[in-house]
Amino acid sequence: MNKATTLITEFQSIFNTHNNPRTFFAPGRINLIGEHTDYNGGHVFPASISYGTTALGRKRDDQRIRFYSMNFPEAGIIECDLSDLSFKESDQWANYPKGMFLYLMEAGYKVHRGADILFFGNIPNGAGLSSSASIEMATGVLLNGLFDLKLKPIPMIQFGQMVENMYIGVNSGIMDQFAIGMGKQDHAILLNCQTLEYEYAPLELGQYVIMIINTNKQRALAGSKYNERRTQCEQALRDLQRKLAVHSLGELTPEEFELNKKLITDEVNRKRAKHAVYENARTLEALKDLQQGDLIRFGQLMNESHRSLRDDYEVTGHELDTLVQAAWAQDGVIGARMTGAGFGGCAIAVVAKDKVNDFKKNISTIYREKIGYDATFYTAGIGSGAREISEEAIL
Ligand code: GLA
Repeated sequence: MNKATTLITEFQSIFNTHNNPRTFFAPGRINLIGEHTDYNGGHVFPASISYGTTALGRKRDDQRIRFYSMNFPEAGIIECDLSDLSFKESDQWANYPKGMFLYLMEAGYKVHRGADILFFGNIPNGAGLSSSASIEMATGVLLNGLFDLKLKPIPMIQFGQMVENMYIGVNSGIMDQFAIGMGKQDHAILLNCQTLEYEYAPLELGQYVIMIINTNKQRALAGSKYNERRTQCEQALRDLQRKLAVHSLGELTPEEFELNKKLITDEVNRKRAKHAVYENARTLEALKDLQQGDLIRFGQLMNESHRSLRDDYEVTGHELDTLVQAAWAQDGVIGARMTGAGFGGCAIAVVAKDKVNDFKKNISTIYREKIGYDATFYTAGIGSGAREISEEAIL
């Protein structure tokens, strides 16, 4: 029995039906570089990965929505009605898909009936690989498919961000949903978060691979310092606006920043803004380096990005620093940094294929010794964005 049959059988047994559901998939994402720049009007450079969320769904004849996640079987079936899609703490993980229903319907998309939906995700939760945006985008493509909504990717992406910002209460930017909604096999996406202009860049790494390393330190984005960082950047921007006609930190070059940084009265806010400005410049340079095949320089920029996130933005923490530091010291590593929001979660490293085994062995030992528990390693395939898939593809 393959996985497709398992998921379909699971759907039929959970929802007590003989009918076949339709199947959708949304990936997770890594970010190569451009961290904490999205909500600062800068650029990001993410890519969607082969891990993700599979969603199987069928329309119902009534107004009920029933959600089930194979990742949270203890939560059982979580039910609600189309007439009440308000956030409820007790609905736990199902608030993410519920929020998608709500904002689509509020925007006038005709979801006129309920649905049974089963989710199965293989992105580790809380690892900074965007499991929540993946559920949102899986729900978006599922609703689009089941109800023939003619929903375009950009609005779908924006509804996902609204779920995070207004429904869940995390003031995150648009990077995660964009990377997941617009992902392309073997490509990274350079996105201007101010204008939403984007371009794909082939991820041709030759004899190198991208390793994802999970600190296994759990972090809750909502409860984290994420919103605080965002506020600090906004304060820094307001200070700069006393003299400069800019709408976001992303509009400043490092030179302009250096000339004007004294306007930022608070020293901590100045460091935060410095990271946002320099990281944006690094991201633009990284695209060029990748296009020119200069992987060495690309790797250096990743390392600089991590140092800036550690020293100026202060979102790395002991676990991520330990991993990245250890990665820098390994043979065959051309760059390593944290990826995503930070405060735990994952790091990425560009590693020579023939050194991957040593890399894993050495980092495992160092990490366990210094942190006291294990790190987990994944080799990232760069896959396509959110879409309907055939049964055979669920493997
Ligand atoms: C999280 C947020 C994104 C982005 C990153 C940091 O993943 O959801 O919008 O801000 O952190 O780059």
